[in-house]
Amino acid sequence: MFGGKGGLGKTTFSAATAYYLAKKGKRVLVFSVDPQASLSDIFKKDIFGKGPTEIIPNLYAQEIDADRRVKEYQNEIRQKILTMYGMDKIPEEIESYIQAAAAEPAMEESAIFDEVVDIVVKGGYDYYIYDLVPLGHALYYLSMASVYDAWIDKITNLRQQMREYDQVAAVIRRDKDLDEDAILNELLYIKDRINKSSGILTDKKQTAFFFVLTAEQMIINDTQKAAQLFAKFDVPLSGYIINRVLPEELKGQNIPEYLRNRFTMQDKYLKVIEETFQGQILASVAEMERDVTGIPMIEKVAKSMFGDV
Ligand SMILES: Nc1ncnc2c1ncn2[C@@H]1O[C@H](COP(=O)(O)OP(=O)(O)O)[C@@H](O)[C@H]1O
Ligand SMILES: [Mg+2]
Repeated sequence: MFGGKGGLGKTTFSAATAYYLAKKGKRVLVFSVDPQASLSDIFKKDIFGKGPTEIIPNLYAQEIDADRRVKEYQNEIRQKILTMYGMDKIPEEIESYIQAAAAEPAMEESAIFDEVVDIVVKGGYDYYIYDLVPLGHALYYLSMASVYDAWIDKITNLRQQMREYDQVAAVIRRDKDLDEDAILNELLYIKDRINKSSGILTDKKQTAFFFVLTAEQMIINDTQKAAQLFAKFDVPLSGYIINRVLPEELKGQNIPEYLRNRFTMQDKYLKVIEETFQGQILASVAEMERDVTGIPMIEKVAKSMFGDV
């Protein structure tokens, strides 16, 4: 997973890493939930909402259509309510609630989460590269895992208590009993999926999380703050990659003052980065002569990241 603020190079590095691994013969899926169709841009191919699409041999890319997933999700919820409660029609007040909930950011997050869990749990690839939206859904998932745990424990206890009251009052109805078990089973299913995927996310053997940053004061500050947050949730941070570094060899040439000033600033902040993230800088990638789209440019970035491809 690549994290960091928007525009720093997450999608670029995701694509380059996928390219590198695919060239090594690994089966790779690079996927994104960013509504700005950025993998489509970098691969110069419209893949939005089309499922895994082969880019080159072994390299598959997928852009998740979050809106569609939210709609599917709403339908699923309607269906579950109908079957669990034995209704033939969703009551109006519940329907308006379902509609209102779709506008909640949490609903979209949850739908995206579901899709990501589906992708990872399904298997079929050697590597999954998750091109995260700015600041990373990872934190959200991980915090959800503990919230769900507490919530489900509470609900289970409540159900147990209610059952005891019911027994005293001798009002238990068999069909109602079954319905409640279906609801609990659903909750346990959700809980299991969240625990499974948060287990994958926090397993250092399976998951690597890289932060992308550039040699600028504000970016360094933000990266440090984000890294502290990630540490709090036990996300295995694997290191930092510096992007858009002006090539050293330019220095020896007759360059304008403008560029000389840029170099002075860059040298200063590269030093700050070195001191701040001691021993955790994995690569620095040069500022290219143009934006990174298309396989030849992706290959260039991959070489800059990993050495010879
Ligand atoms: N090393 C680089 N040299 C030149 N352009 C770059 C470099 N890294 C990224 N870019 C360009 O910067 C823009 C933002 O990069 P992107 O990977 O989409 O960022 P993010 O996914 O973090 O928002 C893109 O147009 C990309 O081509
Ligand atoms: Mg991006």
